[in-house]
Order: sequence, then structure tokens, then C-alpha cells
Amino acid sequence: MTVADELEPVTPETEATEAEEPIKQRKNGLYPGVSDELAENMKSGWADTELHGLKPIAQAAETAARRAALSARFPGDRLVIPSGNLKTRSNDTEYPFRASVEYAYLTGGRPDDSTDGVLVLEPTGAEGHEATIYLLPRSDRENGEFWLSGQGELWVGRRHSLTESAELYGIPAADVRELADKLREATGPVRVVRGYDAGIEAALHDKVTAERDDELRVFLSEARLVKDAFEIGELQKAVDSTVRGFEDVVRVLDRAEATSERYIEGTFFLRARVEGNDVGYGSICASGPHATTLHWVRNDGPVRSGDLLLLDAGVETHTYYTADVTRTLPVNGTFSAIQRKIYDAVFDAQEAGIAAVRPGGKYRDFHDAAQHVLAERLVEWGLVEGPVERVLELGLQRRWTLHGTGHMLGMDVHDCAAARVESYVDGTLEPGMVLTVEPGLYFQADDLTVPEEYRGIGVRIEDDILVTEDGNRNLSAGLPRGSAEVERWMASLKGSRD
Ligand code: GLY
Ligand code: MN
Repeated sequence: MTVADELEPVTPETEATEAEEPIKQRKNGLYPGVSDELAENMKSGWADTELHGLKPIAQAAETAARRAALSARFPGDRLVIPSGNLKTRSNDTEYPFRASVEYAYLTGGRPDDSTDGVLVLEPTGAEGHEATIYLLPRSDRENGEFWLSGQGELWVGRRHSLTESAELYGIPAADVRELADKLREATGPVRVVRGYDAGIEAALHDKVTAERDDELRVFLSEARLVKDAFEIGELQKAVDSTVRGFEDVVRVLDRAEATSERYIEGTFFLRARVEGNDVGYGSICASGPHATTLHWVRNDGPVRSGDLLLLDAGVETHTYYTADVTRTLPVNGTFSAIQRKIYDAVFDAQEAGIAAVRPGGKYRDFHDAAQHVLAERLVEWGLVEGPVERVLELGLQRRWTLHGTGHMLGMDVHDCAAARVESYVDGTLEPGMVLTVEPGLYFQADDLTVPEEYRGIGVRIEDDILVTEDGNRNLSAGLPRGSAEVERWMASLKGSRD
């Protein structure tokens, strides 16, 4: 059901002015299905549903500390951090809303109440800022917006009032519909996080520069490199749900065999939606030779006994933290000899990679350690001519290892992407960082440089690793990794299928 089922289509010109004078437009006949009597009737007879005494969100102290760090970095500047707008999927349907990571990180804002939201930090002098969240208020009942606009609360659900939002987030809240004008009139230096809200950017276009805005974006990306205790707890929750999602998949492999990879995608998605907000990225449910396609998300192929299933998937929590876990599983529960040989090599590489994750170590160490093991095996198997150091120097192993061995993980699956090279890939690991370790070997079905038995086999093993004070902790240790352990685990779950 859509707004259009009930009302005549609204012309583009009326959409542009609807927010200002909807009731007048309606009287002018633009909503001919609504009589004046009905319009009057709908204005009244509604209970006051304002909520009182709301408890602040669980991470209110952490978001305040994050805002304080931001304030200290940019004294005297007005900082504008939009949450973003709805994006059209087609015609009058939109993609599910997801707040920008920058906004969510600084406010704790959630999908149900941050559409069009903007966090503004106003400088209070040479030092310090006052934060305000600008949000859509409750839908107006007097002008009919609540039931006549496609984004009215009657269509999309109740929003928090500005007073409720202020209580929840611990930040004064104001009406976002007044913000663009305020920003246009504002004086003094401004920085905005670009790419989320064209209206806000347009209001600021003569006040900002790309270079200064980029400094804000980079700071907010690097601030997220080290996770606080709340974030680590959320990442563990995401991983725990993901572990259950993988178990769900193993339990229904026979149904996937009878249908397609989509059965696996749907099964995992069910867990993600019931326990979390969503999947953190398109689930890769790659069976047989599809496992050699790194981001196989079409998921429309067959699932066959005797083949491997590469499942790379992660549940995202309601606070937007995502897991990113991969297991490569024999569909029938037992690895063939060649599958096991390749799997065990990837496992050994992952073990070496995980062992290299420690505070004070270089970020690149885990990649180098894993690549070394994979290059050794490829030489040993006669697929590339040694010595190993030559292979690594020329990068020849990359024909089959294809991608980097991991990345930072957090609110984005590939987190902190705007961090500078010196802070990330050329940087040093610190306690509180969370990264994936995910080596793989991929032998394309049409790769004539390897014996036929290798072709069409792809293996990746991926875990989510927290850097601790004295080493690391595998957040996804709840899923077995060694080939024999994987087989035992699959057999135990098969026994519990209905
Ligand atoms: N999970 C997909 C990736 O890391 O690219
Ligand atoms: Mn990954």
C-alpha cells in the first residue's frame, strides 16, 4: 500500500512546496480525495502520546566523549555532521535508512529517528562547542502532514519528539527544517561532512572548502580506529549473532541443495533481521566455483554435494556495528583430499596472520605473515617457481591470493576508510583496534596454469580479531576453523536438523 492508493498523485511542483503550505494546496484541489470536513476531522481527537522520563541511550557517555574529542580538534569551527536523507529505490519507494557513520558515532542515532538529522557543534568561543541535534519533529496534525505526507508518522511510524530525543541522546534537539536557513545566515568558519545531505551542503557552499571538510572526515575516520568498551561489546554481539546465523545455515544445507544459494542468503538474513538491524554488507553465499569470485552476492547458483560453500556474512547490530566472518564449508560435511589440502594451507596462513596481531606491531605484519605461508605452499605444490622470497618480491602469489589479508572493522565493514595511510596501513596496532584476518586461495575455473583438480576451488577463512593489551582475542572463536573441527561441528548440527 502506498500514499498514492489513497490520494491522487502529487505533482512535482507541489512536492517542492508541500512542507510549507500543505493545507492550502489541499484546499486548492491538489488532494481532491480529502474534503474540508475530513481535513478538519483529522486534526483533532488524538491522545497526547508524549513520552516522559526516557532513559538516555546506553552509549550516551561514550558519544559525549567522542564529541569532546572532536571539539578539541577543531576549536572555533562550526562543525556540521549530517545523518543523511532517504534514497529513492524506485518511484515512491526508498531504501531502508541507515544514518551516516559519522553522525551515528557522535550521537548514537538509530535508523528509526535519524532520517534527515544533523548534528551541529557550535563554537562557544576560542575553545569548546555546544552540540545540538537537528531532527524532524513529530508530524504536524494541524496541517495534515502526519497522514497526508508519505513520510508522515501515520505512514512510516512514530518519531521521537524533540524533547524525547534530547533526553535519549543527551543533546539539545531542534527542528531540522530551520537549519538550512540558520546555516546560510551563520558567520565564522564552518566544516561539513560531505556526501550525505545535498540540502545542507548547498546551504553551506560558499562557507566551506573541500580541503577543510576533508580534514574533518579524516579525523572522524581515524577517531574510530581504536574502539571504546561500548563498541567492543557491540562488535562481540554482532559476531555472536553471526555465529548463530552460520549455524542456521548449516542446519538447512539440504534445503539449499534443493533450491539455491538464495536459501542460504535468506536464512542468514532472517537471523540478522531478528537479532540485529540488518546484514552489514551483502552476504556472499558462494557455492562451487562461485567461491572464486571475491564478492559473489548474486547468490543465484546451485548448492551441490561435493562442492565447497564459501559463506562470508555479518550481522549488524541496532547500533550499526557489524561482524565480518567467512567460513568455507564442504556442502556434504566432508572435505575431499584436494579441498582439504587447500583449506589447510589457508588455515595455516590465517594462524600465522592472527599470531602477528599484537599491540605495538605494524599493521602490515599479519598480511605479510599470511602471504608468506601461502607463497610457501604454492611453491611446494609446484604452481609457481620458487624461491619463496622471489615469489613474494614479485607478488606472484597474488594470482591466487587476490586480496589484502584484512581490514579494520566497526560501523563499516571496511572501517576507517578515510584514515591516512600513516595511521592505518603504515601504522601500528593499538589495544582496542578490531580487524579481520582473512587469507584466501582462489583457483579460477578457467585458470589453465594450475592442474585441473584445483580449478573452481575457492577458500577463505575470516575472523574478527581484537587487539588487546598483551596480544589479541578472536571475537569469532565461537565458530570452528580447523578442517577436522569444521567437519565435527557440521556433523553435530546436521544431527540437530528438523
Ligand atoms: N566481507 C567482504 C570483504 O571484506 O570484502
Ligand atoms: Mn572482510
